[in-house]
Amino acid sequence: MLAVTLLVFMCLTASTRAEHHQPCHSPNMTGFMTVMSLKGDVRTFGAFTYDSLGKKLRFKSNDSLPVNASLAVDLLMFFEEGIFYEIDSKNQSCEKKALQCTMHPLDIPDDAAFLSTLYSGSRAIEGEGLKVNIWTGSTPDKKGHYSMAVTMGCLPVTAFMFYEPTALIFTTMNVETEIQDPELLMVPSICQGLQVEETPEGTVHSFFNEFV
Ligand SMILES: *[C@@H]1O[C@H](CO)[C@@H](O)[C@H](O)[C@H]1NC(C)=O
Ligand SMILES: *[C@@H]1O[C@H](CO)[C@@H](O)[C@H](O)[C@H]1NC(C)=O
Ligand SMILES: *[C@@H]1O[C@H](CO)[C@@H](O)[C@H](O)[C@H]1NC(C)=O
Ligand SMILES: *[C@@H]1O[C@H](CO)[C@@H](O)[C@H](O)[C@H]1NC(C)=O
Repeated sequence: MLAVTLLVFMCLTASTRAEHHQPCHSPNMTGFMTVMSLKGDVRTFGAFTYDSLGKKLRFKSNDSLPVNASLAVDLLMFFEEGIFYEIDSKNQSCEKKALQCTMHPLDIPDDAAFLSTLYSGSRAIEGEGLKVNIWTGSTPDKKGHYSMAVTMGCLPVTAFMFYEPTALIFTTMNVETEIQDPELLMVPSICQGLQVEETPEGTVHSFFNEFV
């Protein structure tokens, strides 16, 4: 599995750090994402829409997949403004909350360190391999670590998030480099006019923490 390969590779190649690499930023995107815990259970699967300049992300789980996803989510994140919405369209309810950490698996943080370039699949056979750059770093509170694999065009492939006692793996699929439905990045009517809810002491709201 790619996850395990990357982990092993990360450990082996820590000394081959290349210089002169700047983290790239992913473009506008539409695609699908799976969130798994390292124990192997699928937390959720769904469609995402990402605005790279506006730093907005919508991620909505889709239960039509024949797996036991344990979480149903519909999140609209505004990383620049530092707020997000938890939408429950079945219940016609919405919560507006403050984001304490704006890291997310679709974009590499500016302070990430380049680790290495590797091929998933075959390096030699044309069309049978995927060349990715691996970036690593720590969460702002230094308690967690991440590793992100992106294509040469900066499309996210896999992101690992290690945060004791949990670890999450985010995998993206069928990514298109455009926003197919801009409506998805607008605040739905059920969320309009809400006050930001108080964050309980000690809680850190982030995209990652929504799946823990
Ligand atoms: C990305 O999407 C936003 C919102 O739809 C749009 O304003 C922006 O021009 C797009 N950027 C590119 C490079 O297409
Ligand atoms: C779930 O995915 C299926 C197949 O891609 C799609 O037809 C359906 O509209 C999606 N549902 C939601 C709620 O996104
Ligand atoms: C899904 O979860 C239910 C209840 O936890 C379990 O009985 C079932 O075997 C699971 N199915 C799959 C495909 O994992
Ligand atoms: C709808 O909201 C109620 C009260 O907030 C909650 O108990 C219930 O679980 C919600 N239903 C769904 C399907 O989320």
